[in-house]
Amino acid sequence: MLNAKKIREDFPILKRKVYGKPLVYLDNAATTQKPMQVIEAISRYYREYNSNVHRAVHKLSQEATEAYESAHEKVSNFIGAKGIQEVAFTKNATESLNLVANSLSRQLSKGDEIILTQMEHHSNMVPWQQAAKRTGARLKYIEIDGNGELKMQQLQSLINKKTKIVAFTHVSNVLGTINPAKEIISAAKDAGAITVMDGAQSVPHMPVNAQKLGCDFLAFSSHKMLGPMGIGVLYGKDELLEKMEPLLYGGDMVSEVSFEDAKWNELPWRLEAGTPDVAGAVGLAAAIDYLLKIGLENIHDHEKLLTKLAIEKLQQIAGLAIYGPEAERAGLASFSINGVHPHDVSALLDAEGIAVRGGHHCAMPLARLLGTFGSTRASFYIYNTAQEMEKLAAAVEKLAARMGKLRK
Ligand SMILES: Cc1ncc(COP(=O)(O)O)c(C=O)c1O
Repeated sequence: MLNAKKIREDFPILKRKVYGKPLVYLDNAATTQKPMQVIEAISRYYREYNSNVHRAVHKLSQEATEAYESAHEKVSNFIGAKGIQEVAFTKNATESLNLVANSLSRQLSKGDEIILTQMEHHSNMVPWQQAAKRTGARLKYIEIDGNGELKMQQLQSLINKKTKIVAFTHVSNVLGTINPAKEIISAAKDAGAITVMDGAQSVPHMPVNAQKLGCDFLAFSSHKMLGPMGIGVLYGKDELLEKMEPLLYGGDMVSEVSFEDAKWNELPWRLEAGTPDVAGAVGLAAAIDYLLKIGLENIHDHEKLLTKLAIEKLQQIAGLAIYGPEAERAGLASFSINGVHPHDVSALLDAEGIAVRGGHHCAMPLARLLGTFGSTRASFYIYNTAQEMEKLAAAVEKLAARMGKLRK
């Protein structure tokens, strides 16, 4: 296990109390907390070299440009891209996925097929629904089984010559399922389809190498990996990004403009119109440095242990349903207490200082499929401890017992 106690010293917010109780922050799938190293990097940018990037020769602008471009470099190395031409900064994973869906929809026509999974976050479902509506393409879904895993045997029968896009989440933000990305990508490739991987819940938590996996596109958000909100990443194979129509037009994304027309700048700048979030990029780079120092394998192992501990304890509580696979899974546990609305569960845990999230987690179709009006999700990260898992289980047990008595 990681030395979470030591790690916590870097996170000022974790020293805070809520309602007089120590904060137990278990809402990491929604967003993670930020270490001093990230806060300091952002603050230093504004204190010492805040300036707009590109096209200026003054010192501050040079420094800001260097920091901004080296953040691309850092991300490129972090996810195993070929180079910065394959890494475009966006606002978040949602914007990255919209950018891809919007752009790829120009290549779709009536009768083409897009394959998704039943466990997609709305961000990797709604953009494709809209693309299908615009083009007459058809959506097909890989179903999930009772264990919360994809029915992989369906994939071969779903994929055919009409399949143009296979878009899937690497890790489910509700079930914690780690999908067999390599297998999905290889099946899609055999059919000549483009693959889009939603890495919002995997890139922050485990080693993800885009080139090794072979995905065509990969989307994720900085704020779920210790970095600031407001910046996300779209990785794309350069030969595909070359062909991609930008979503936004304007400054910085052009190389030449006449009164009549414009030529696009080189990658990735042509996909980053307007003044970018330089402070965000600086913060993201600092977050990556922090994560690399700990090691992504170690992070994954730490979360596996925490999840095992949490689930073992939660399983002992009567009236509790836990969702997702039994075995290999990511660092979260979603559960329902018989007949209690997840918002009530979250509010009652909040009163104990425990921050979890209740609801459909932006995966409404999945919640319906599970036959629930949502779940309560506890999600873990590098600074969470075994003791916090015990606190969570004890609080849930108390709550379940109270609810049980009320029902009698
Ligand atoms: C699996 C998954 N995809 C996409 C997103 C969207 O991320 P963002 O809101 O940062 O764009 C989330 C956020 O919870 C997620 O869990």
